Amino acid sequence: EGSKLWGGRFVGDTDPIMEKFNASISYDQRMWDADIRGSKAYVKALEKAQLVSTDEMNSILNGMDQISEEWSKGVFVIKPEDEDIHTANERRLKELIGAPAGKLHTGRSRNDQVVTDMRLWLRDALSTLRESALQLVSTMVERAAIEVDVLFPGYTHMQRAQPIRWSHWILSHAVALSRDVERLQEINKRVNVLPLGSGAIAGTPFDIDRNLLCKAGFESPSLNSMDATSQRDFVLEFLFWASLCLTHLSKVAEDLLLYSTKEYSFITLSDAYSTGSSLMPQKKNADSLELIRSKAGRVFGRCAGFMMTMKGLPSCYNKDLQEDKEAMFDCFDTLHAVLQVTTGVMSTLKINSSVMEAALSPDMLATDLAYYLVPFREAHGISGKAVFTAESKNIALNQLTVEDLSSVSSHFGEDVASVWDYSSSVEQYSAPGGTAKSSVLAQIDHLRKWIEKT
Ligand code: ARG
Repeated sequence: EGSKLWGGRFVGDTDPIMEKFNASISYDQRMWDADIRGSKAYVKALEKAQLVSTDEMNSILNGMDQISEEWSKGVFVIKPEDEDIHTANERRLKELIGAPAGKLHTGRSRNDQVVTDMRLWLRDALSTLRESALQLVSTMVERAAIEVDVLFPGYTHMQRAQPIRWSHWILSHAVALSRDVERLQEINKRVNVLPLGSGAIAGTPFDIDRNLLCKAGFESPSLNSMDATSQRDFVLEFLFWASLCLTHLSKVAEDLLLYSTKEYSFITLSDAYSTGSSLMPQKKNADSLELIRSKAGRVFGRCAGFMMTMKGLPSCYNKDLQEDKEAMFDCFDTLHAVLQVTTGVMSTLKINSSVMEAALSPDMLATDLAYYLVPFREAHGISGKAVFTAESKNIALNQLTVEDLSSVSSHFGEDVASVWDYSSSVEQYSAPGGTAKSSVLAQIDHLRKWIEKT
């Protein structure tokens, strides 16, 4: 069938089910702009190589601008025979400008074209994600600054561990996300490589100036045409990265879910991020947090799925590679939504600081009791015995009298009373990274400067 880009050697029609099975236009049309940008750069290189005349180049450039306008106005009509965004744009170009359209694809293959489009698309996507992630980090940092005086229980193994600042908790997540932003910038370097000019596998026999092509927005041309047309590690890196970032976000969500239960009552989620029950009128469910938590599974599934697709593929282009796009788009959409919703949740939730502070209990100061005894080697064991004594007397640790404590160890004096204070407890942790106010403020300062220079 002659209307296809590759129709020349075919006589029979494609099975309609196969046609649909083979087509990627339903999702790869998102790359219309990248495809046009790539084509515009390519026709300039063709003109420089004297493969098209200046008039032909201008006509192709104008045609491309018209197509761009159709897409942005939402009036581009996809025809049933449009297999993917590349064939669709070229088919339309031919309708608009006629014969010269055929020259645009000289020396180009969809193999170098598709991966050029994807890299262009992903570059923009990464910059969007970067902005959203920075927005979230900044929301967290500013919240931490405002609520720096609020104390609450810190948990390990989900057991009450030590008193910490609420802001210390917030910042622990902000710091992890700041590393995600840094990793993203790393990936960007490898995304920013231009495959165009690689042809289908072997490169181009024409005098195509690949450095000129880089002007479409790339740092450098790819080094090897076989690698350039068939590797998708830049997509995989994005998928790994998105998975990792979502594990961080799912942890934020999980903590907040717990904190929002009646049993904890540390926080109240804004109505804007909650939903009700169709049966139980009293319910206010933290659906936003549950969905944030769930998306890590979805995205990691995409990542694992595409890894499986890539595993054992022979060299060079195989149609299996078409599977890269839905994974990439879905992970982008998912993470972009999660970042925005998390920012919304973090900026609107209310903390119940009196409940948080009331949840602190003297047993959480057992470590401080041991520190009181340092440098005695037995400090940990002695404090443990004090905990045991209090438990067997069925009283709180701070209700032990000096006599009780003295019977545990001769190293306790009257001044042990100073241990039973949550504020002075957290203030001991003033070394960098600790939960003392000065240290938390230093973290805030560090992150603010980091945001500014990022
Ligand atoms: N839609 C195809 C893809 O996404 C474009 C490349 C097709 N190349 C080919 N040799 N059939 O991978």
